[in-house]
Amino acid sequence: MEYKSVVGGHQAMEAKTLDLDKNTAHQTNGDFWDTIGSDVLGVTALPNYGAFISEETVQLLEDVQCKKILEIGCGNGRSLKYLAEKKAAELWGIDLSSEQIKRTQDYLTSLEIKANLICSPMEEDCGVPKEYFDFVYAIYALGWTTDLDKTIQQIHSYLKKDGTFIFSWSHPIHKCVSIEKEKLIFNNSYFDESWYSTLINDKEIMLSNRKLSTYINALANHGFMIEKLIEENDEAMLSKKSENSFEKKAKMLPVTFIIKARKL
Ligand SMILES: C[S@@+](CC[C@H](N)C(=O)[O-])C[C@H]1O[C@@H](n2cnc3c(N)ncnc32)[C@H](O)[C@@H]1O
Repeated sequence: MEYKSVVGGHQAMEAKTLDLDKNTAHQTNGDFWDTIGSDVLGVTALPNYGAFISEETVQLLEDVQCKKILEIGCGNGRSLKYLAEKKAAELWGIDLSSEQIKRTQDYLTSLEIKANLICSPMEEDCGVPKEYFDFVYAIYALGWTTDLDKTIQQIHSYLKKDGTFIFSWSHPIHKCVSIEKEKLIFNNSYFDESWYSTLINDKEIMLSNRKLSTYINALANHGFMIEKLIEENDEAMLSKKSENSFEKKAKMLPVTFIIKARKL
């Protein structure tokens, strides 16, 4: 067993390196998100891209009014609600977890918001229309994919030409470093993208920590142009929070990254 900083990366946890089996990963992670996922990892939803970055500050979404929008890994639907309030024309969401889809459906129905929701792994062709969307986005969801290339390829096919793809995820440096007794400890190799499993509140998850270059090169290889890469934490959001170890860490390194890319 080795120690890795995982997901939120606040502190290192025991992790077991494994060979990726896609179906096992979907089953394991699906079960995590069907049960305790949102309770232990919290909600990561627009206007927030992560703990310390907000759309209100970075202004990446441009004008979404009357636009067709798809969320990858829609979780419990809070981001879709945010976009409904911004008067998007059509809302779609994909999620691996049937419980997350149900939560989104119940939440949006209670607010009389219409959305097309599909329960599917993001890696697979699940019947989402092609060349159809103005925006595709994913908030802390893309990193769960078992096949980044295939997922980016799918996303590219859903977008219209010049359509925008925005996603946020844990910064890979954040997931290499934990804070322990006021010190930052570099636990994992930045270059190690092997799959691992670990337990969060006794539930297993399976993940890999991809390098920033892996995301950027996958986008470039599948016909996207990068318009923006954001790594900075928002000082104002940081200063609002109490000074626990996570905030201390976030003052020294990026904990979230956001990429905005355009389909060529
Ligand atoms: C951190 S949550 C996203 C949170 C979401 N932005 C929200 O506002 O609730 C990650 C989501 O990705 C979904 N997910 C995990 N692996 C997936 C996969 N392979 N394909 C599609 N969705 C996946 C999970 O079920 C979970 O709902």
